[in-house]
Amino acid sequence: MSAVLAEARVRRAAARHDIAVVLFGTGKVGGAFLQLLRTPAAKHLRLVGAANSRHQQTQPGELAERRLREHLNIAGEARDDAALLRALLASNARDKVIVDATASAELAGRHPDWLVHGCHVVTANKALAGGGLAGWCALQAGCVHGARYGDSATVGAGLPALATLRRLHACGDRLTRIEGVFSGSFSYLFNHYDGRQPFSTLLREACALGYTEPDPRADLSGEDVARKLLILARAAGVPLQRADIEVENLVPEILRDVLQTEFLERLDELDAPIATRFAAAAARGHVLRYLARFDADGTARVGLAEVSRDHPAAHLQGADNLFAFTTQRYAQRPLLIQGAGAGPEVTAQALLGDILALTQQA
Ligand SMILES: NC(=O)c1ccc[n+]([C@@H]2O[C@H](COP(=O)([O-])OP(=O)(O)OC[C@H]3O[C@@H](n4cnc5c(N)ncnc54)[C@H](OP(=O)(O)O)[C@@H]3O)[C@@H](O)[C@H]2O)c1
Repeated sequence: MSAVLAEARVRRAAARHDIAVVLFGTGKVGGAFLQLLRTPAAKHLRLVGAANSRHQQTQPGELAERRLREHLNIAGEARDDAALLRALLASNARDKVIVDATASAELAGRHPDWLVHGCHVVTANKALAGGGLAGWCALQAGCVHGARYGDSATVGAGLPALATLRRLHACGDRLTRIEGVFSGSFSYLFNHYDGRQPFSTLLREACALGYTEPDPRADLSGEDVARKLLILARAAGVPLQRADIEVENLVPEILRDVLQTEFLERLDELDAPIATRFAAAAARGHVLRYLARFDADGTARVGLAEVSRDHPAAHLQGADNLFAFTTQRYAQRPLLIQGAGAGPEVTAQALLGDILALTQQA
């Protein structure tokens, strides 16, 4: 009898140290996260619910399936966010975490409510944090009851950009400039463009490699980069708004409202304007980069810029991101963070890293 009681005690203790997880989104990032759940690094995590936009699953046997992602694509329970939240709240785990690996603005709008329910939220979805200031403030307000928000995956796919800015801010260092290349697709395009082949050829290549959204206008508009600049500035204590940022959209106006298929057929209309800008930059010994920049005087811009060949952005490779922070204490040369800024594996790792950090398992 005492052995049975002891075993029950051990089980209860183990359950207390569990982290129950509900996953929204089983696409590229969510799929890589499901793979990570099977590794020793995730031994404290227990999946209690998973959903794509059409189906969900809360049955332990189904959730343990290796092909859960594929199963959800064809069948599952009917979608019901409230049922997923109930499954999480019913768990006896010490920590309850909702992982958002979607791009859904509707789902992001629920982040503050989930926090208020005492669930930690860990997200790759930047729709709320990088949207209107009211959404950002709702997130800060939601965190007052002990639940925490993990957003490392929203910027630089988990490169330690946000954590670094927050640490500098907490130490009273005064930010004077944020600058960098925050988009893997723009990085790839302008690291490789040398004026010899048409820009559209490179863009088709980037689409085929999965570096862009299926409709590359989502990347070329610059809005995704602007959202990342908003999140970074806000992490540094600056209440920046979208209206404060000048954003250069690389899609010619005439192509902004056409159907995706027509846009993809007319990509060569992007070639001449980019070639002209490239030639002008080259004549001055410069290169083109799609840069984001915020200065402490409040100026914020996202767009194509000429940079000299000794600028850190001129030496980027592949689809790497670059973050350069100039502060009162990093005044002579900026603090630089550089590396892969996109990709399902590193992004999923950022989600797991946030879960472990905010439940203090790291
Ligand atoms: N891919 C990267 O390298 C990368 C890097 C950094 C950040 N991110 C961010 O990570 C997020 C996911 O990116 P991804 O590349 O994985 O996209 P994806 O492959 O298109 O997957 C998106 C997933 O979200 C699901 N979804 C959409 N609305 C939903 C809802 N209301 N409820 C539940 N699931 C919903 C989709 O379901 P269906 O399958 O039913 O459509 C799909 O499973 C995005 O916010 C993206 O910006 C991605």
